[in-house]
Amino acid sequence: MPLTRKAYRAAILHSIADPAEVGIEASYEYFEDGLLVVDNGQISALGHASELLPTLPADIDITHYQDALITPGFIDTHIHLPQTGMVGAYGEQLLDWLNTYTFPCESQFADKAHADEVADIFIKELLRNGTTTALVFGSVHPQSVNSFFEAAQELDLRMIAGKVMMDRNAPDYLTDTAESSYLESKALIERWHGKGRLHYAVTPRFAPTSTPEQLTLAGQLLTEYPDLYMQTHISENLKEIEWVKELFPERKGYLDVYDHYQLLGERSVFAHGVHLCDDECARLAQTGSAISFCPTSNFFLGSGLFNLPMAEKHKLNVGIGTDVGGGTSFSLLQTLNEAYKVMQLQGARLSPFKSLYLATLGGARALRLEDKIGNLQPGSDADFLVLDYNATPLLSYRLKQANNIAETLFVLMTLGDDRTVQQTYAAGNLVHQR
Ligand code: GUN
Ligand code: ZN
Repeated sequence: MPLTRKAYRAAILHSIADPAEVGIEASYEYFEDGLLVVDNGQISALGHASELLPTLPADIDITHYQDALITPGFIDTHIHLPQTGMVGAYGEQLLDWLNTYTFPCESQFADKAHADEVADIFIKELLRNGTTTALVFGSVHPQSVNSFFEAAQELDLRMIAGKVMMDRNAPDYLTDTAESSYLESKALIERWHGKGRLHYAVTPRFAPTSTPEQLTLAGQLLTEYPDLYMQTHISENLKEIEWVKELFPERKGYLDVYDHYQLLGERSVFAHGVHLCDDECARLAQTGSAISFCPTSNFFLGSGLFNLPMAEKHKLNVGIGTDVGGGTSFSLLQTLNEAYKVMQLQGARLSPFKSLYLATLGGARALRLEDKIGNLQPGSDADFLVLDYNATPLLSYRLKQANNIAETLFVLMTLGDDRTVQQTYAAGNLVHQR
């Protein structure tokens, strides 16, 4: 008899494939009266309650959620922990925004007590919003990552993070050196990578703030350790792109800088990619790299509209990211609401099932973790959410007019936010209850 076995009964929905590849109907499974069985932190069965119940012992502990939808936990493929205190900073586009708001805010992480405090707030905010896995930028200070992983470990969360590497074009109080960034990253990798459900990401901030020496050492770390992640920013803002051309005149373009330093690969995630060209998308796809689509940030910082259809044409892995604090919400539901509008402005559509895919299985595939998270297949980690159909009076009234799960899902993504997330479970443990 296993140590802990629990079952959850509700409507249950998860993505099983990319709608762009298999069509919408084959991309998901929906159980109107479903049952999810969890054994020792992992999903052991999923199906219709009527079919599964007779196979289970009569005394099994079942939690029944009415007027609610169980989905996999959300996956945020791009977010900045040390920007929690500066969400919604007024008036600037990327480069001025970094200098005016971001760098001063991140400098506070020189203090470990501050890092501890913000890590706690940040993780609570992720869980309140139903995000069970995130790919996280720390600050340049190693303690930002230590504080984050210490807090994540306590809750047995599956999280990925890295210390920013940044040795030029930033204030002195916030820069490391090529060598110190290498050594500090290495120490963090040794301490955290592969410990429980934690993973490390080598994190050069973006090409303008790293010397060629630092980018070389970032690439070296990736060859020294198996399964490391790499995260950075790319082609977010037109002035940024011009600046990269000036700094690296010998390279063909922005992506080619990262390519030259061997930073592309199956565990590499590039945030934004708003202004990528066809050739760059093709190269990203060829190397198995992924893009994090960050709609609230791209609107807020006036960066532009991400071309998802072009990424799909190249079969490029795409996840969704909040990019807090350039992004304005921790909620992936709100982020999908904005993603829909990005497509509308380009004369395209974002079906609710593609949105679900982006926030769950698509994110998991971008992170090469689809055997563990992003869906509710037996054998996966029991990271899941309960979304409340009655979270607000308007949501409740609106959902009563919905005729099918496609409509229900779309309305949840349009009207939903942190209030919609009634419970968040990670590794089978209740880690947030509204
Ligand atoms: N490019 C380099 N650093 C950053 C950052 O902190 N946020 C965003 N949105 N873009 C960046
Ligand atoms: Zn970012």
